[in-house]
Amino acid sequence: MTSIGETALSIFAATDSRLITALAVAGGLAVLGLLLVLTSLGELRGRRTAKVPAAYRPAPGDEVLERRTLERYLAWSAIAAIFMAVWLPVYWLREPTRLAEKREKFLEVQVYENSSGNQGGEALYNEFCASCHGKEGRGGFSNVFIDDKEVKYAEPPLRFIYERYKAAGRSEEEVTQLIYDAIDRGRPGTPMPTWSIAFGGPFISHQIDTIVEYLQEIQVEITPGHKNSQFKIPDDDPTDGEAIFKANCSVCHTPGGASQEDDELIGSGLIGPNLRVTFERLSRDEVYDVIAKGRINMNRPSMPAWAALGERAIRSLVEFIESIQRSA
Ligand code: HEC
Ligand code: HEC
Repeated sequence: MTSIGETALSIFAATDSRLITALAVAGGLAVLGLLLVLTSLGELRGRRTAKVPAAYRPAPGDEVLERRTLERYLAWSAIAAIFMAVWLPVYWLREPTRLAEKREKFLEVQVYENSSGNQGGEALYNEFCASCHGKEGRGGFSNVFIDDKEVKYAEPPLRFIYERYKAAGRSEEEVTQLIYDAIDRGRPGTPMPTWSIAFGGPFISHQIDTIVEYLQEIQVEITPGHKNSQFKIPDDDPTDGEAIFKANCSVCHTPGGASQEDDELIGSGLIGPNLRVTFERLSRDEVYDVIAKGRINMNRPSMPAWAALGERAIRSLVEFIESIQRSA
């Protein structure tokens, strides 16, 4: 019995399952076709001998019904039952191995395609993330289409991500979770793609772990005003709301981005909403809160947290936004 089982298993293992499926489907169609031909042949013969509608032909007698017909049905059901009794255990025996093999093959392909020899977080980051998030997480831009217009989309710098969200009141664990969520699921409605296999991306969880470790290594302290910092406060007047806005916020809130010179358009909305109507919805405190803490969205662009700019700068920003409100 074991040897038969083993032979069956090895035959199954050796054959491509798609081939088996194709053969099974072809076989099924052939049987169906044969049945059709046979029944129509019988139909034709019947018509040639007697032109009597089927419903009017004499039925077989009790003798035939209880003997020949019954025995034929019983024989066929015995054959079907035996077939199932043999086929199901073989299938059941084979199934775990088949699943394990498929899984292994799947993961092999993924890992192979992504490897550039080095599987470390830094290599993965440089190959897959740096084009948008910049070298060593300095932030960047990519071109995307919004309403059929090509615009530059600002990608958040990742080297401040812990400080940025901790300044906004989140714990270290929460930020780590936020990073995993963003990488695993992506941010639908923004250029940020999905990366984990569980959500249809290319990376296994180990690869994502190494990327997160790399991100943790490149974290720097926030120093507003520093050349590489994303938190820009002009030296000459640290309370100039308009200047702070142009330096930090225009990339997302002004149609022409940071280079927009037209005062009428500043803050009127691009990736972020039109801030010229914000005070119709939000109070002064709420505007302060949105700027300081940001708003993380999972299905459309997020507003980064700016608490690291400091309270004075954020107050100036709130005043500036209030000053550009559209008159009703
Ligand atoms: C990376 C792009 C980006 C940058 C940079 C950015 N924002 Fe935003 N902002 C957004 C997005 C997107 C939203 C909408 C979030 C939402 O609706 O949940 C938003 C929402 C807001 C809101 C709430 C508006 C409302 O009516 O609900 C305010 C206020 C705001 N941003 C101010 C600022 C200020 C001030 C700065 C600069 C310090 C800034 N933003 C920088 C993308 C950005
Ligand atoms: C095509 C450009 C693009 C690529 C490639 C990309 N990202 Fe992003 N990523 C974005 C954008 C845009 C956002 C901001 C989305 C939003 O508005 O919420 C983002 C957000 C994030 C965030 C959340 C940041 C925050 O402040 O909330 C993390 C973490 C992140 N990306 C990590 C990665 C990693 C790791 C990779 C590489 C495996 C990667 N990204 C590749 C565009 C990209």
